[in-house]
Amino acid sequence: MTDGSSPLALVVLAAGKGTRMKSDLHKVLHPIAGRPMLMHLLASADALEPQRKVVVVGAGREQLAKALGESAELAVQDPQLGTGHAVQQAEGALAGFAGDVLILYGDVPFVRTETMRAMLERLHGDDNPAVVVLGFEPEDALQYGRVIARDGVVQKMVEHKDASAEERACRLCNSGLMAVRGSDLFGLLARVGNDNAQGEYYLTDIVNVANGDGRVCAVVVTDDPDEVAGINSRAELAEAEARWQNKRRLQAMADGASLVAPETVWFAWDTQLGRDVTVEQNVVFGPGVTVADGVVIHAFCHIEGARLETGTSVGPFARLRPGAVLEEKARVGNFVEVKNAVLHAGAKANHLTYLGDADVGAGANIGAGTITCNYDGYFKYRTVIGERAFIGSNSALIAPVKIGADAIVAAGSAVSRDVADGELRLVRAEQLVKPGWADRFHDAMKRKKAERK
Ligand code: UD1
Ligand code: MG
Repeated sequence: MTDGSSPLALVVLAAGKGTRMKSDLHKVLHPIAGRPMLMHLLASADALEPQRKVVVVGAGREQLAKALGESAELAVQDPQLGTGHAVQQAEGALAGFAGDVLILYGDVPFVRTETMRAMLERLHGDDNPAVVVLGFEPEDALQYGRVIARDGVVQKMVEHKDASAEERACRLCNSGLMAVRGSDLFGLLARVGNDNAQGEYYLTDIVNVANGDGRVCAVVVTDDPDEVAGINSRAELAEAEARWQNKRRLQAMADGASLVAPETVWFAWDTQLGRDVTVEQNVVFGPGVTVADGVVIHAFCHIEGARLETGTSVGPFARLRPGAVLEEKARVGNFVEVKNAVLHAGAKANHLTYLGDADVGAGANIGAGTITCNYDGYFKYRTVIGERAFIGSNSALIAPVKIGADAIVAAGSAVSRDVADGELRLVRAEQLVKPGWADRFHDAMKRKKAERK
């Protein structure tokens, strides 16, 4: 519902070929901030609680079916005869739907919810427009369709290729997005022809048809041309990513995090940061990261699928992979990799360690160079380390294995059997002690070398 009166349906166009991406992946599934661009768009539209969602697809429909699951219906457009023809393919899916229809482009992912809402509100304005178009005023009008309008009322929609010189001089461009009542949409579309420069059925012509009937059509103009930027190439994808990251960095700082060099920090779409978090230079967040208050992330960390609780500290040069959990005041230092492992409160792994499929007890100390050997080439196994246990440097913990509370594993041990609480485990060869042996060796060798000269 938008204003509590009309139900809403979305029609998202995604049947274009996306040739310029030069990709086997469907254009709208290319990720920005770790999330397919289509999902960014649907998330913004979901805030309006649409009752129906139809995505119009051409090639690559299996990829979209898999990505969307039950969350939207697919309508197939084959062949692709233009934007108007594309919307027509949703007619079956919207049979019997009487509410508002919002038409979006899958490759225009960052339209704000408030802009969508403004379009729908305009659709219910006193002059009762048949169609509401979202317009924008770019620096350079390029190949965009033009919206010839006066005082927010559209006189004509014209594609660049069909436009006269006078029409091309008009700066108000068509973003492509529209709001139309379901009861009007398909009747108008049925009257659109393809007698134009491109031989296509233009969605924009529904405005011209409605105008011919004497009905009002309106344009809502966004003050932020970036929100209607389409993504057609890898370069535009990178630009969209850069804009998204910039906004997110500003938001993080506004919410009380310190970013020492904001331009070097990369967030994922769902990164959650608490207050008084410090993020140093060159930190990358993959999806699924939650950072509580007062956490310090030192330079050059890569963090994905991890939870950092209050007062924890990570890096520099640490890698946290999915399932990494640092409970309160736990510490992970340089060149440490953690995967599917919990460090309970105050546990420390400060240097050069791999902790995979592990449970590290509160206050345990993991020495430099400790490795949990979690994989035998076929299966993964767990390592469980008790509270306050001390694992000496350069130890291999060969899972499945348990180290008891307060136990000590001597440096350089390869532990393949469980260690009891309070035990010392020392797994290395007995030391041979030969006093003076090295001195005698050096003397003998030096003498030999001198004799050979
Ligand atoms: C369209 C608009 C133009 C607007 C521009 C904004 C029309 C006739 N023109 O032009 O006024 O300025 O967008 O970017 O509407 N699509 C399909 N099936 C098709 C054709 C397109 O699903 O048969 C989808 C594409 O995947 C894309 C969107 O519709 O998401 C727009 O298609 P595109 O070819 O980029 O339209 P333009 O010619 O740029
Ligand atoms: Mg286009």
